[in-house]
Amino acid sequence: MGVFESAQGMFDKGASVVKGAVSGVAVENQAFMRGFIRLCSDGWLQGWHERNGGNVTYRMTNAEVDAARPFFYDNPSSWVAMGVQAGNLSGAFFVTTGAGRYLRNVELDPSYNVGIVEINRTGDAWRLVWGLRDGGRPTSEFASHFMNHSVRVEATGGACRVLYHAHPESVIALTKVMPLDARTITRALWKAMTECVILFPAGVGVTGTMVPGGIDLARATSELMKTYEAVIWANHGLFCSGSDFDSAFGLMHAIQKAALIHGQALMMNGGSAEFANTISDDDLRAIARTYNLAVNEAFLD
Ligand code: 13P
Ligand code: ZN
Repeated sequence: MGVFESAQGMFDKGASVVKGAVSGVAVENQAFMRGFIRLCSDGWLQGWHERNGGNVTYRMTNAEVDAARPFFYDNPSSWVAMGVQAGNLSGAFFVTTGAGRYLRNVELDPSYNVGIVEINRTGDAWRLVWGLRDGGRPTSEFASHFMNHSVRVEATGGACRVLYHAHPESVIALTKVMPLDARTITRALWKAMTECVILFPAGVGVTGTMVPGGIDLARATSELMKTYEAVIWANHGLFCSGSDFDSAFGLMHAIQKAALIHGQALMMNGGSAEFANTISDDDLRAIARTYNLAVNEAFLD
């Protein structure tokens, strides 16, 4: 059996296992879930998701919740307190990868590796309404995702829907050799290639080395995400936001590529960042002017 047939078999089984004969398109085949699954597979193919590394959450639209609801569990899980609270996400539904589950396997068995959780009225607890079979729970970084959704919803007037955490190796390597300072790292990334300032004109935030899955990391990231669309976690990885799967994945891809270019150029240059040819601050200003970007002036000399 080919990969596609086996994946299709899982899709069909996933829907019928949950609810018996339900009319409508199985959750696994609905557009939002296909986009979610594709992001997980693309990230795996990039090499960013060793073992259970990385996690993804998606804030569903009301129409998507309505289409998925016939497949929800008759008896959702009990409410689980998150230890954080956000009033602007009260009653929201999120698709989330599972704690300890592998992004590599999402495509083969979505309803085991991914779930849908509902947020309570007070915005401080979740319950599982679909998927994450066999005792699964949302990613250990769910508190981080949740707080950052709250901040990005506010910062984007509701446009942000996707948060994506990965372990892109060149970004992690950069945090071993550069000062852990948003200005220094953003400037290196902007100057890696001319598109970067267009793709993340606000720059990239940076945290120190912190405990994965911890509330402190969630709080530090959400403070930075008031300003930045992406935050680097030193010695860990990268956390990106976006209005859709393409923009969140694209931002991850661009920052990883810029980090790779900067690292390669450093190695080719004997470790020195004094490159023969670079992108000057005037070049960055010219790009920002041409594309009418709200570039972070504090990061320009
Ligand atoms: P989860 O398996 O809980 O999502 O954790 C993976 C990870 O990357 C933690 O930062
Ligand atoms: Zn991680």
